[in-house]
Amino acid sequence: MDQYRVFGNPIKQSRSPFIHQSFAKSTEQELEYQSELVELDSFEQRIKQFSAQKGKGANVTVPFKEQALALCDQLSEQAKLAGAVNTLSFIDGKIIGDNTDGLGLVQDLLRNKVVLKGSKILLLGAGGAAKGVILPLLEQQPDSIVIANRTVSKAQELCLKFSAGEKKEKLTACSFDSLIDNHFDIIINATSASLSGNVPPIPPQLINADVICYDMVYCKELTPFLSWAKQQGSEHTIDGLGMLVGQAAESFAIWRGVKPEVEPVIDNLRKSLAAE
Ligand code: ATR
Repeated sequence: MDQYRVFGNPIKQSRSPFIHQSFAKSTEQELEYQSELVELDSFEQRIKQFSAQKGKGANVTVPFKEQALALCDQLSEQAKLAGAVNTLSFIDGKIIGDNTDGLGLVQDLLRNKVVLKGSKILLLGAGGAAKGVILPLLEQQPDSIVIANRTVSKAQELCLKFSAGEKKEKLTACSFDSLIDNHFDIIINATSASLSGNVPPIPPQLINADVICYDMVYCKELTPFLSWAKQQGSEHTIDGLGMLVGQAAESFAIWRGVKPEVEPVIDNLRKSLAAE
């Protein structure tokens, strides 16, 4: 049977085996998908071994996404720009790298009926998570994307990296407090602040009932950012569970040529999260 893995460290918490096994069932594909803990110094060796042992593909998670990029023979444009790879395909002895995180976000926003074309987007954060979603967001032709970060220079670097041709006017960088007089349709939290129970210090005036607030992470309850946004009056809060399933669906489609339905898997994950 075709073999797939998700490699990471830590990996115990990974929902990818459940997600991909659900996709395999719903699309009637015969495959095996498991999670595997990799020692910090043995990623490259393990990937080469797995591909030689007839592994067909792999997902890569923290902290190996940059290392995965370095060992690919071929990269998608999105992986190059994101500077990270979350999806490996092993084809005819070659390692092919892609990054489906950004597409996972866009698909999830669209699934939630969020209009991206012509919208004003505020992206919070300028680390790996933010970098991975800029190109897929730009491809949806928003009016503008403002990247705000605690360390402004990192937001400016991202702007430079992604600004070319007609995209030039669409991207700007700034600090959190200089956002005060702006209006945004969508605010996407791509900082890791929620993971430590914090909220990026953006002006509360940015939030009102119509502003869509999205957090790229998820947890059992509302994330700290979404809970804060709700307190400020937001009526549209979305967490990153759908993005997680969305990026997996894109990986699955790359490997198997068939796009699985995400809704039932998101529902099941939400239920098991509530029961934990
Ligand atoms: P990831 O891969 O999850 O993006 P990262 O590359 O380490 O992780 O980036 C973390 C991002 O979250 C950065 O934008 C960081 O801001 P700085 O560049 O100023 O460090 C942001 N971040 C982390 N904790 C934060 C907090 N408490 N408030 C605001 N931003 C925070």
